[in-house]
Amino acid sequence: MQTRLQEMKESALGQISQVTEAAQLQDLRVKYLGKKGELTELLRGMGSLSPEERPVVGQLVNEVREALEAAFSGKQKAFEEAALNAKLSSQTIDVTLPGRPVPAGTMHPLSRIIEEIEDIFIGLGFEVAEGPEVEMDHFNFEMLNLPKDHPARDMQDTFYVTEELLLRTQTSPVQARTMLKKEGKTPLKMICPGKVYRRDDDDATHSHQFTQIEGLVIDKKIGMSDLKGTLLTFARQMFGENQQIRLRPSFFPFTEPSVEVDLQCFNCGGQGCRVCKQTGWIEILGAGMVHPRVLEMAGYNPEEVSGFAFGMGVERIAMLKYAVEDIRHFYTNDVRFLRQFNRG
Ligand code: DAH
Repeated sequence: MQTRLQEMKESALGQISQVTEAAQLQDLRVKYLGKKGELTELLRGMGSLSPEERPVVGQLVNEVREALEAAFSGKQKAFEEAALNAKLSSQTIDVTLPGRPVPAGTMHPLSRIIEEIEDIFIGLGFEVAEGPEVEMDHFNFEMLNLPKDHPARDMQDTFYVTEELLLRTQTSPVQARTMLKKEGKTPLKMICPGKVYRRDDDDATHSHQFTQIEGLVIDKKIGMSDLKGTLLTFARQMFGENQQIRLRPSFFPFTEPSVEVDLQCFNCGGQGCRVCKQTGWIEILGAGMVHPRVLEMAGYNPEEVSGFAFGMGVERIAMLKYAVEDIRHFYTNDVRFLRQFNRG
């Protein structure tokens, strides 16, 4: 029996080494190691062996089985590797093929301007605040010294949600909200960028939704000169070192006195041209000293502190800075327009 086992092992190993296809290998495996395979047959014959022979033969059977299994799996692996190699060499990757460009978005020009303006004011010690776009009449108007029947409400035609709720017409309500949050503490220096809404018919210079940046400073001994100095610094950082500004008397219910601030025309340097309608000046924002009533309503004592405020239209600044002739370009998202602001 030992000799038969040895012979079987030799011939099986010989056959395995000759196999050239995976299917043949499987057949051989069945032939030798299968349920009705030759090794199994031989094992059945073990019953006729003497008790002394049995362990010796049993060990030999195991050795043969192990040898055959190792040979089968070695061959199997070789087949798999060959198959993989064949696949790899038949499928080539052309690493010289140019890649497909993935179009990347760019920062929107309005976001860019807002960031630029924020950076300037942060440099002056201001904080950036935010407020809700769906606002209460109370904050949008009443806290800004515009009671229900005030004629100046007509200056800002309003989208009402309910009688008390509206889409804010200006970022000025954030003034009141910030003051209340401060609970009478000074100094307060904040700007607030955000969307505002008005019932306007859209055209080249009007939009029912646009963007403002509000500014508010409250402290002891704040005067008109602080307002002018701050806005001059802003104008020079935004539009150039030699910029001049001009303050003209105006009216806003929440400031007294109120001014409109003009920028010397950067197109003609003040000589008068088409851009400034021959005046040499361009209006860029509204401002003033915070009205004592407004301070009082928001918890500040106008006998002790004073403040200035300003509000500017971001689109207007962007249109001036980049010579954009139609406000609607900012909202229609024509990539040919937007790409011009991509400076990498
Ligand atoms: N809220 C005003 C508007 O939308 C702009 C404005 C003017 C804001 C004067 C102010 C200010 O803070 O002091 O027309």
